[in-house]
Amino acid sequence: MKKFKIVIVGGASTYTPGIVKGLITNNDELPLKELVLVDINGERLDIMGGFVRILMAKYLPDVKVSWTTNREEAFPGTDFFFVQIRPGGLKQREQDEKIPLKYGLVGQETCGAGGFAFAMRSIPAMVEIVKDAVKYSPEAWILNYSNPESMISEALNRAVPEAKALCLCDMPISQEVSLAKVLGKGHKDLTFKYFGLNHFGWFSAIYDKDGKDLLPQLVKDILEGNKNTIDHVDIKTDPYWQETFKGIIKMTKYFPGFIPLTYLQYYFFPDEMVAKENPEYTRANFVMDHREKEVFEECEEVIKNSSVSDSSLLTGVHGNYIIDIAKSIAFDKKERFVVNVLNEGAISNFREDVVVEVPCYVGSQGVEPIAVGKIPTFQKGLMEMEKSYEVLAVEACLEEDYDKALKALTLNLTIPSAGLAKKVLDELIENNKEYFPDFKPRYF
Ligand code: G6P
Ligand code: MN
Repeated sequence: MKKFKIVIVGGASTYTPGIVKGLITNNDELPLKELVLVDINGERLDIMGGFVRILMAKYLPDVKVSWTTNREEAFPGTDFFFVQIRPGGLKQREQDEKIPLKYGLVGQETCGAGGFAFAMRSIPAMVEIVKDAVKYSPEAWILNYSNPESMISEALNRAVPEAKALCLCDMPISQEVSLAKVLGKGHKDLTFKYFGLNHFGWFSAIYDKDGKDLLPQLVKDILEGNKNTIDHVDIKTDPYWQETFKGIIKMTKYFPGFIPLTYLQYYFFPDEMVAKENPEYTRANFVMDHREKEVFEECEEVIKNSSVSDSSLLTGVHGNYIIDIAKSIAFDKKERFVVNVLNEGAISNFREDVVVEVPCYVGSQGVEPIAVGKIPTFQKGLMEMEKSYEVLAVEACLEEDYDKALKALTLNLTIPSAGLAKKVLDELIENNKEYFPDFKPRYF
C-alpha cells in the first residue's frame, strides 16, 4: 500500500494535535511515511513539533517527523497539504471581533466586518502558500481549513486556478453528527441534503436508509419542544458552542422548513448578537485563555516528561473530517462530503461562476457536486447578497481596490449603512497595516 507524505501548513495551530491523533488512528487506511509541520512562528512550532515527534515515536515510530519555517524545504514530494493558517494569530482575531463592536456591528471572526478583515489577511498568504505547493508538488492535493473559507476559495479559483485545492469546514458535518444524535441514528445511516455558502447554509432533507425524509418531523419536534439541537458529540462542549447550538431552535422557529447552520444567527439577529457580547472580552480572549493555553501546556508537559502516557488519542469531528476526505481522494472512494466548490449549475437558479457549499462526491479526480436544483427565494436572496459581498471583497483584495472594499462592506448583511461600513473599514485598515493589501481611498 502506498505511504503518504503530509505537510501541515499552520502546523503550530492548536488544531494540530487533533489532526495528528486522527492520522495515527487512521494509519491503517491512510498510511503515513512522513509528516512535516510548517509555520511562520518558529517558537510555537518547536513546541508543537517536539510534542508531535514524541507522540509519533510512541504510536508510529517509522514515520519521519520534522518541522520547519521554510516552505521550499518542506514542500517537495508531498501528497497532501493540510492548510490551517491564521495570519495575525488570535491577537488579530481579537481585533477583528472588538473593532466592529465599537460601531455596534457584529464582531465575529468569519462573519461581517471581522470576517472581511480576516479575509484580507488570509487571502494574500494563502495565494503564496498555494503557489508554492503547486510549484514544489504539482500533483498534491491542498485541503484547506483556513478561514474565511468561501472567500479563500473564490480567491484561489481566480489567482491559482491550476491548484488542486479544496476548502472544507467542519460545521456542516458537526451539525450532521449532532442531528443524527438527536434522531437517535448513526451518522453513516443518514444522507443529508444541504446547500448554501460557507458558514451560511441550510439542511433541506435528512434521508434514512429507506429513503424516508426525517427532516419535516424533526423540525416539528424542535418547534414543539420535543427535541433539542444542542446534543453534540464533538469536543465543543464549551458554553459558547452550547449557546450557539441553541440558536438553531430559535432560527427554525422564525423560518421553519429547513434547519439552518448556526452561523446564520449573526445575519438574522446582528443587533441581538452584538448586545450579548462583552466588548472587553470576546471569543478570541476565551480561546487564548483556554484552548491555546491548555494545548501548549499539554505539549510542554509531554516534552518535559518525554512521554505521552496521559495523552488520549480521542479526537473530534474536526481532525477526522479532513482525513476522511484525504482517504476518499487517495483511494478514489467517491464518498459524499459537503465542500466548497464552483457552483456550475449545482444550484440551478444561482450564479454559475461562484463557489457554493454543497454535498459532493470526492474522488481521485476531484469533486463532483451533487445537483441541488432550485432553491427558494428567501435563501436565494440572502445568498445573493452574501455572495456579492464576498466577490467584491475578494476582488478588492486581489486588486488592492478601496472602492470595492467599501462596496463589499456596504452590501454585507450585518452592516446597515455605507457610513458605518466606511468607519469600520478605515479602522480595520489602520489596524492591519502590516497585513492588508494597499487600500487607498481616492476621494476621501
Ligand atoms: C467552527 C468553524 C470554524 C471556526 C471554528 C471557531 O469549527 O467551522 O470555521 O474556525 O468553529 O471555533 P473557536 O472555538 O475558535 O471559536
Ligand atoms: Mn468553518
